[in-house]
Amino acid sequence: MQNEIMKLIDNLKEKLNHTNSLEDVENLRVEFLGKNGLLTKMMPLIKTLPNEEKPQFGKWINDAKEIMESMIYHAKNDILEKELEVKLNKEKIDVTIPGYQFRQGSIHPLSLIIESLEDFFLGQGYLVAEGPEVELDKYNFEMMNIAEGHPAREMHDSFYIDQNRLLRTHTSPVQARFMEKSNGKPIAIISPGKTYRRDPDDQTHSHQFMQCEGLVIGENIHVGHLKETLLSLAKYLFGEDKEIRLRPSYFPFTEPSFEVDVLFTKKDKSQTWIEILGSGMVHPEVLRMGGYNPEKVSGFAFGIGIERIAMLKYGVDDIRNFYTNDLRFLKQFKGE
Ligand code: PHE
Repeated sequence: MQNEIMKLIDNLKEKLNHTNSLEDVENLRVEFLGKNGLLTKMMPLIKTLPNEEKPQFGKWINDAKEIMESMIYHAKNDILEKELEVKLNKEKIDVTIPGYQFRQGSIHPLSLIIESLEDFFLGQGYLVAEGPEVELDKYNFEMMNIAEGHPAREMHDSFYIDQNRLLRTHTSPVQARFMEKSNGKPIAIISPGKTYRRDPDDQTHSHQFMQCEGLVIGENIHVGHLKETLLSLAKYLFGEDKEIRLRPSYFPFTEPSFEVDVLFTKKDKSQTWIEILGSGMVHPEVLRMGGYNPEKVSGFAFGIGIERIAMLKYGVDDIRNFYTNDLRFLKQFKGE
């Protein structure tokens, strides 16, 4: 009897060796272990045996059943594994195939300049302040000590929205706005942003351009602070070898006022002074209107032309390149 059972096991083993589909294995399971399976059919034989042999026979049958179930289980697993392997091989990803070309944007050169100005001044404890581009006459002119009758206030020089509002002609109104809300406390801010003037557009003029304002107010602030700040700025922007020159100038909101030039060396080794910004000591009237006592505090201010800096730094010879969004131009600027 034991032999017959062993033979069944061998028989199943042999057949399993030749199967390679789950269906075949399942058929074998039915053939051997199903309701009418070869092993199942042997079970009733137990009745024909003498009592003392019954337990032994029962054990053989049970053991055989367990062994055969395990063989079937493993055979199924082997097939599943093989199928998975075939599938994986078929779906293998070729990582060497070139990918899709996505167009990568780059940072606009004017933004690069603004970011580097922010880096420079934030590192020295300045705050970055913002102001509206549609500005009140009060901040753009009055509080900046630009008297009525000044040419900048004429219709032909500014874009008016209505009698009291216009597109700001410079970032200086942010000075007045910031003073007004600072309640006489010390100030160190810069304020980059767009500005507008009714200039006909040409190679160096644009009706819309950008500035970065700077304002420092505190006790005993003097021209030395202004000069040192602008000298280190010039070196930061254009290189350690740079020098600056303050040239007397006039702005209604500063006194004294200076144009600041940087000394550049040209390719032929000759040197030229190039103007990069306007600046000066904050006018006492401006301090007073902003809620500060000109007897106690003083300050300096400057307004940097962003396009001018970008043109010098990157060697751009037409300001219109910054606004026409030609990718061939814009792609050349990658940041540092
Ligand atoms: N607002 C001036 C301009 O637009 C620049 C400036 C700012 C000058 C601050 C002095 C102080 O030309």
